[in-house]
Amino acid sequence: MMRETVSVLISAAAIDDRLTELAAQIKEDYGDKPLTLVCALKGAVIFLADLSRKLDNNVEFDFLRVSSYGDESISNGAVALSHKTGSLKDRHVLLIEDIADTGHTLVFLRKHLMGMEPASLKICVLLDKPDRRQTPDAKFDYLGFSIPDVFIVGYGLDYAQRYRNLPFIGALSFEE
Ligand code: IMP
Ligand code: MG
Repeated sequence: MMRETVSVLISAAAIDDRLTELAAQIKEDYGDKPLTLVCALKGAVIFLADLSRKLDNNVEFDFLRVSSYGDESISNGAVALSHKTGSLKDRHVLLIEDIADTGHTLVFLRKHLMGMEPASLKICVLLDKPDRRQTPDAKFDYLGFSIPDVFIVGYGLDYAQRYRNLPFIGALSFEE
C-alpha cells in the first residue's frame, strides 16, 4: 500500500505575502477600472477568493470549467469547456488559473476568452512549472510562484479531488 505524504513547499504566510504584491501590481496596471475575474474551476477557487479580497476595484466574478481528456493529472493537449461564463463582451477580463503546466489549458483559454470580445484580457496564474511546458504560446501576465517539476496539492489544487483545502502549497510524494 502506497502512503501519500505532503510536505510544505510554500507556506500560507508566504502565499499571503505574494498575493499582497500581486494585488498591488494589478492595482497599478488597472487603476480603478472595473474588473471581471474569471476563475478556472476548480483549482483556482481559493486563489480567486484570496486575491480578490486584496483588490478594491469594482470586481465581478465569473467561472468556467475546463476538462482535459485522458489522465486526471496530466493534460495531453485535448481541452474542452464543461462550464462557460456569461457574456464578457467589453469587460476587462482577468483570468485566474491555478497552474501553468504543459500550457495547453492556457493556450485554449486565451483563445476562447478572446473570442468573447472582452475590452481587455490578462492572465494571472498562481504557479508555473516551466520545465513541463509543451507549447511556447502559453503566456501569462501575472505569476505567483515559479516552481520545480514536482506534483503540487493544496490551496485549491488536488490529487484525485483531495487536498484542495490545505492552506499551504504542498509537494505530494508516495512511499511504501
Ligand atoms: P496544463 O494544460 O498542462 O498546463 O495543465 C493545467 C491543469 O493541470 C491545471 O489547471 C491543473 O488543474 C492540473 N495540474 C497540473 N499540474 C498539477 C499539479 O502539480 N498538481 C495538481 N494539478 C495540476
Ligand atoms: Mg485547473
